[in-house]
Amino acid sequence: MTKLSQPPGGQSSTFDIEEDEFDEALGLLDNAIKREETPEEHRNSMRAWKWWIVTMCLVTIYSAILTSSENQQKRLITQNGNFQCPAIEKVPENVQGFEEVFSESYEEVSNSLTKNMTKFLEEFRTRAFDDWGETYEKAKAKKRDWKRKHYVPFLNNGSSIFESACGIGLNMYLTLEILSEEAGIENLTVYGNEYMDASTQKANAIFDEIPPAKSRKGQICTSDSTDLSYIPPNSFDLVFTGYLSPMLDPLHFGMEDIELNYDRYFKLCDAKESDWEEKKLSKIAQQRQQDWFGQWVAEMARIAKPGAPIILESISNPLCEERDEWGGVSKEWWKVVSTNNTYAWDVDPKSLEYGGDQIFDDRYHVFMKKKVADQIRE
Ligand SMILES: C[S@@+](CC[C@H](N)C(=O)[O-])C[C@H]1O[C@@H](n2cnc3c(N)ncnc32)[C@H](O)[C@@H]1O
Repeated sequence: MTKLSQPPGGQSSTFDIEEDEFDEALGLLDNAIKREETPEEHRNSMRAWKWWIVTMCLVTIYSAILTSSENQQKRLITQNGNFQCPAIEKVPENVQGFEEVFSESYEEVSNSLTKNMTKFLEEFRTRAFDDWGETYEKAKAKKRDWKRKHYVPFLNNGSSIFESACGIGLNMYLTLEILSEEAGIENLTVYGNEYMDASTQKANAIFDEIPPAKSRKGQICTSDSTDLSYIPPNSFDLVFTGYLSPMLDPLHFGMEDIELNYDRYFKLCDAKESDWEEKKLSKIAQQRQQDWFGQWVAEMARIAKPGAPIILESISNPLCEERDEWGGVSKEWWKVVSTNNTYAWDVDPKSLEYGGDQIFDDRYHVFMKKKVADQIRE
């Protein structure tokens, strides 16, 4: 213990100090002298350093907050649908081997209908189009009840809506008109995808030229409905399709003639129990069809917001049960796969509802809701 009569700070008081503290104080003094700094100056410069460090920390924290809010902003923009349309890379599996037949029935029809766009826009309400076999006005009348019950309660002014495989966009168009007429719901932002580029272009032109019910076009892209990976999850208030195009050749027979191809599948349907190979092939064909439907709906469910409706219109029954159609799935199938979450749709099986198709007697509509966030985490 050393007694100092004068503390390093110069105040005249007497106090006790440990030897090593004393050495340290001397060292400080020494250093200060070497740098020609008084202890007071040294303390001030240490204070300045502390302030500098605190200021730098604050600047870092502030810029981290700014960056995270910018990211949040970016996420919001993406969620509002500001995504890039992809380049279509391959023919979707449902159409493979039948590209020509397919483009005859969709691309050529849509091209011929809309050859003269101005005329088309003037006349489309009273013309039959697509494969509805009905005029726009009649199709709209036949879809009105279904849309009033299953679309209206889930949308508001300014909601966003997506149609998978939207063709030239007239089912979307009549949907927006019905929402406005039935409930005054307007200002929707409209999104969609379609495989036939000619149809996508028409859909874009229609929504650019004469958007109904004060709607605003988001993006309508040329893409495969079973791969919407360019769209962020949880993006839309309602996702629907007017028709889920089945696989035309689930066993990849690859025949050139679509009629012959279907005859081959019908033969498998009719196989006797003893023809176990054919029976088995028929089962595999139906399983592949189901997986195709599962994959298509999985993409629709992924891009729907939690709690949002996912609506499938004009669904066909399995080919062996409904030979006038192109193939499909049974009503029971929806119950089983939504309960088991077979395709990770994360929909609430209790929300499942069916409706009769007023345009095609042998088809049905399906309504279900994506689980809310808490249910998905379960
Ligand atoms: C019956 S039309 C329905 C068009 C539209 N929903 C409507 O009601 O006006 C079926 C549409 O599905 C499209 N399509 C078929 N398979 C597709 C796929 N894998 N991806 C995207 N679109 C597909 C066809 O090109 C066609 O335009």
